[in-house]
Amino acid sequence: MEDLTILDYEEGMLDEMMQLFYDTVHTVNARDYRKDQLNRWAPLDVDKKFWQQRLKRNVCKVAFINNIMVGFTELEDEHVETMYVHKDFQRRKVAANLIDELLQIASERKYSVLTTEASVTAKPFFEAFGFQVTRVKKKLFNGKDFTNFQMTKDLSLC
Ligand SMILES: CC(C)(COP(=O)(O)OP(=O)(O)OC[C@H]1O[C@@H](n2cnc3c(N)ncnc32)[C@H](O)[C@@H]1OP(=O)(O)O)[C@@H](O)C(=O)NCCC(=O)NCCS
Repeated sequence: MEDLTILDYEEGMLDEMMQLFYDTVHTVNARDYRKDQLNRWAPLDVDKKFWQQRLKRNVCKVAFINNIMVGFTELEDEHVETMYVHKDFQRRKVAANLIDELLQIASERKYSVLTTEASVTAKPFFEAFGFQVTRVKKKLFNGKDFTNFQMTKDLSLC
């Protein structure tokens, strides 16, 4: 594994994160979702103010390899809100390292579970880390149908 560094989110990282988010959704998630869904999930005119406020409020960890931003994740209380890895750094254990950070925090805070709403694309990753599907959600997202999975990891088993 390359030299991976994980930092706490800072405001100056937002533009690069939004580019990573856009690129990942429109390439990696394109395996599982239609173009109209991808456009609504990650629009060109992403609401940076909304993201900035949320990222500042939540625990947000950002991963770098050789000063290149390669992924980020967010924890809101016991909920893993986001997990995105750079399209060119897939399957190189970036998300594995990020989830380990969140599991460490969850352990320090004595959480009994972690939850997430996983995309079709991310479901196998979360399953590999012991998350189990509790509900298949077919929700309306910005007015379009959208399938994802409510998943839970029981930390009392760790
Ligand atoms: C899901 C995602 C975050 C995984 O990131 P990653 O850094 O590529 O994952 P890792 O390399 O850490 O994978 C660790 C393990 O998870 C499992 N895994 C990850 N991706 C997988 C896939 N596509 N299929 C099957 N298993 C997978 C494997 O067990 C893998 O270990 P292995 O490579 O030794 O087999 C990444 O693919 C991504 O950014 N997807 C698009 C964004 C997204 O949908 N995010 C979630 C929003 S809800």
